[in-house]
Amino acid sequence: MGNIEEIKFQSFQVDALSVRSYLLFTDMAIDAASWAGKYLQDCLKYQDNARVILATGTTQIKFLEALIKFGGIDWSRIVFFHLDEYLGIEANHIGSFRRYLRDRVENVLKSATFHYIKGDAIQPLEECDRYTQILKEKPIDLCLLGIGENGHLAFNEPSIANFNDTKAIKLVKLDNSTRQQQVNQGYFSQLDAVPQYAFTLTIPTICAAKKILCMANGDRKSLIIKEMLKGEISPKCPASVLRLQSHATLFLDADAANLL
Ligand code: GLP
Repeated sequence: MGNIEEIKFQSFQVDALSVRSYLLFTDMAIDAASWAGKYLQDCLKYQDNARVILATGTTQIKFLEALIKFGGIDWSRIVFFHLDEYLGIEANHIGSFRRYLRDRVENVLKSATFHYIKGDAIQPLEECDRYTQILKEKPIDLCLLGIGENGHLAFNEPSIANFNDTKAIKLVKLDNSTRQQQVNQGYFSQLDAVPQYAFTLTIPTICAAKKILCMANGDRKSLIIKEMLKGEISPKCPASVLRLQSHATLFLDADAANLL
């Protein structure tokens, strides 16, 4: 790992999407955090607040650590949202995305504002309406993304992704491959323990952000990255929608990029 000034990457374009590929995952995370940090500093020069949608998952961990360390951001002026949450899950559950973000970001930054999707809301459709209203109060400045092993963005699974969704957030049934991914990553003990349904921000909500920063690393993502960048642009590979977004940048490490 080098100093931030020495980090090297290859950059190329796939349709409208900018792609950066790094030898090392750590370098990718640090450079992506610097990119996001500078962008948020810029936003705060011209606006009172910046609104950011956070992603969760293993890919984000090093990035979030580096972003928190980046410095020069007045976190009290940052308003955070997140991409998705399991239906029926308590905020304290180790697999809950609220828990993930509270432990790694909210408890560290303290002054930032967080709007969480209440996964265990008794009236899930009313929770969708509540979250839609807060999301729509002002434009989103930055949306962070990971990519599921099946190509999902947030929980927009290949079976249900709709590039023209009219909803901002919706309830979806999770593919078994996605549920298995959560077990493999250590967030749940077994497949039966992973909820079958979840809330997800939709593809149009993600694409409406002013900037999109998507990251993928490791061998387990190489096949889907190949499909995303070389296959057809289709809801069957939800992440392929990013090829239509000139305001999106995809950060890859060498393992994720190794089939390109
Ligand atoms: C999860 C989440 C996504 C996340 C993606 C990647 O299932 N729903 O929001 O970005 O899959 O996860 P990971 O980084 O662990 O591969």
